[in-house]
Amino acid sequence: MKNILFEENIEQIEMPENLAIGLMVARQHEKCSTVGCDFDYFGFAFGQSPFHAPEPLVRALQEAAGESGYADSEGIFELREAVAGFNARHFGLNGDAGRIIIGPGTKGIFFLLFSIISGDVIIPVPSWIGYAPQARFLGKKYHPLQTRPENNYKLTAEELEKFLVTLHGEQHLLVLNSPHNPTGQVYSREELAELASVCRKFGIIVFSDEIYALTTFDIASYTSMGTIYPEGTFVFNGLSKDRSAGGYRLGTCHLPDADCRKISAGLQKLAATMYTNITTPVQRAAVAAYRENEEIEEYFKVTREIHRIMGRTLHDLFAEIEGLRVTRPDGGFYFYADFNLLGEELNHAGVTDSNGLSRALLSHPHHIATVTGDALLLPADNFGARIAYADYNGRKVYVAYLAEQPRGRKAEAAFAGKYAPLMFDGAEAVSEFVASLRKGTLELKWE
Ligand SMILES: Cc1ncc(COP(=O)(O)O)c(C=O)c1O
Repeated sequence: MKNILFEENIEQIEMPENLAIGLMVARQHEKCSTVGCDFDYFGFAFGQSPFHAPEPLVRALQEAAGESGYADSEGIFELREAVAGFNARHFGLNGDAGRIIIGPGTKGIFFLLFSIISGDVIIPVPSWIGYAPQARFLGKKYHPLQTRPENNYKLTAEELEKFLVTLHGEQHLLVLNSPHNPTGQVYSREELAELASVCRKFGIIVFSDEIYALTTFDIASYTSMGTIYPEGTFVFNGLSKDRSAGGYRLGTCHLPDADCRKISAGLQKLAATMYTNITTPVQRAAVAAYRENEEIEEYFKVTREIHRIMGRTLHDLFAEIEGLRVTRPDGGFYFYADFNLLGEELNHAGVTDSNGLSRALLSHPHHIATVTGDALLLPADNFGARIAYADYNGRKVYVAYLAEQPRGRKAEAAFAGKYAPLMFDGAEAVSEFVASLRKGTLELKWE
């Protein structure tokens, strides 16, 4: 058999960096054993919720296992109704089930919508790993739009407007993400209103990725772009982050007012052509995770508090490292560490581009896994790293939090140190990495 020939578009994309880092860690681990390092890696690269899925969701899935028939492509009605009610209760979005589409994770819905809605895609940078490779695969033009540290990497209305006047074409899509991966920043109502007025002026469609919305530490202040700019916003959410069920592969999208029926019909057509429906038992189970449920509300509250304690404590440790600038997270489970003040030292140590930073951090004896570079859509000379703070035993910490109820910065930091010691050691490893960089003694050892 001769070599199998591939379509060109598969050459346009690479293995997502977080998964690639996983492979690199495994490979480095093998090499490392030859120099006698039997220690594991500090896992700041992986953005998976550390918690167990809420019990009512798991029980509902067990009960629904027998539901083996096909289901509606846009999602079963009970679920769309429950999601609409959930979005109305939590975010003040319009509670009409006709506005809801169920899809194969937020990622999958992005892919479907990128496939059917025309226009270039504007992606504020640094960015989540997922958007650009999809656009590239689909042959869709995208524009990375650099944000600034002095604005905490939030896109401002002025920056957006200044960029939009340079763009041609009838329609454009803006990806917004709040809470933001990788910076942990949350857009305020005022900031969204300013962006919305520019979007209105230029007829921009917003893809608002709100998958971390319910992890916002100050949840009462959370604002969905769907309430500010309802005519042009698609609101994406799902079970993966706030309910720790990424593997269930269930995402939701609240459609904008404009052309809602047409979009829904287009999505249904594509879904029916590609995969028919999201797994029926998972949809049935998800109804339990969207209807009013005290146990799940309690789960949101506890997990959100733990994310806050871990995120703020780790942030404080990183903020003390001279030479680093870090964002202070307000939601999600990431913050962003800017190494650019150390650019010369990095170059001197042989780290010549932003992809090289994650490799350097992984080297022996540092063993620090992060995501940097292309995966965040950063230019080659921009040394930034995403720090995920989810490397601990979520179930154990959940139980401990209920028992110990830490209150106040000191007690919370002690709690984090007790239950997430690897993250503390990881912060110390970053501190040592930076210290040797500053002293000019950093050597990149792989074996
Ligand atoms: C910002 C952001 N959007 C979307 C996703 C993917 O969500 P889902 O599991 O629903 O596809 C992730 C997961 O890492 C994410 O961080």
